[in-house]
Amino acid sequence: MSFPIERLRRLRRTPALRRWVAETRLSRHSLVQPLFVCEGSGVDRPIVSMPGQSQLSFDRAAERAKRIFEAGVPAVLLFGIPGEKDAIGSGADDPEGVVAEAVRAIRQATPEMIIIGDVCLCEFTDHGHCGVLTEPGPNGERTVDNDATLERLASEAVVLSDAGCDIVAPSAMADGQVEVIRDALDEASHDSVAILSYAAKYASSFYGPFREAAECAPEFGDRKSYQMDPANAREALREVELDLQEGADMVMVKPGLPYLDIVSMLRDEFDVPVAAYHVSGEYAMIQAAAEKGWIDGDAALFESMQCLHRAGADILITYGAEKVAELLEKGF
Ligand code: PBG
Repeated sequence: MSFPIERLRRLRRTPALRRWVAETRLSRHSLVQPLFVCEGSGVDRPIVSMPGQSQLSFDRAAERAKRIFEAGVPAVLLFGIPGEKDAIGSGADDPEGVVAEAVRAIRQATPEMIIIGDVCLCEFTDHGHCGVLTEPGPNGERTVDNDATLERLASEAVVLSDAGCDIVAPSAMADGQVEVIRDALDEASHDSVAILSYAAKYASSFYGPFREAAECAPEFGDRKSYQMDPANAREALREVELDLQEGADMVMVKPGLPYLDIVSMLRDEFDVPVAAYHVSGEYAMIQAAAEKGWIDGDAALFESMQCLHRAGADILITYGAEKVAELLEKGF
């Protein structure tokens, strides 16, 4: 007895057929390029663990953002590396601070650019945690003081919006951060500034290179008492639900590829735009393997974006954004 064989290969025969029947299509319009901005001028300091990425002073950041925009990427996400760090992260809400300065320079050079400001204290605190700390407990232990951190985050969001951000992206994982930021923005007449909440941000080992890039590895302990546990999926629904109630306009899953189930679940459950952050470690792994000649880096990067998009991400944040836009332009 013979079975009729289903001929799925018919529609895979040529590039034109494959493109024609593709279920999802990547677009440059979804891309976001993160940038690290530092003090000084004329500074372009390569980040060793993230080939192709640099710490840039405001002037170089504006030039780079312009090139990124011309390559077809409509948005940048800014992280600051201040000259000086302290216990409360004073640089975070300094109107003359590194990020505010970069926002103004990018806005001037490329008015149409969508500028997203990361709202967190870890790059600005000398202890490297994402908020201000509690007084030491009986055994000297300290942790992030949730409510004291909220005030600092709200102030940072207002300063970044004053400088010209279209969107602020709170990533400190402090409970209630979206609500206080929304209130502070409205109070400061920034009701049109949107909030992209890092709602499902996991305590991940894939952030390693970022911590080198932003010089913000925690001095003691880890971030597990505020970032999500990789073991949990349903909890992401609660995070997102609360952030939406508090006024988030869009939500993010971070990291990207190991969390495709979360992207897909959020896409099914909620109607707001879902962003996925293909983080520093994911980028670095591709670059490192490509350098050794073990994988095709461009193809792996492109496929990673395709998969995040297929899982349901509307917005794709990746250090390879400019590269992906170039590949799309070439008809990759
Ligand atoms: C916190 C923040 C981090 C990243 C983005 N925002 C670091 C962390 O939580 O430790 C990581 C991004 C990446 O790894 O690419 N401000």
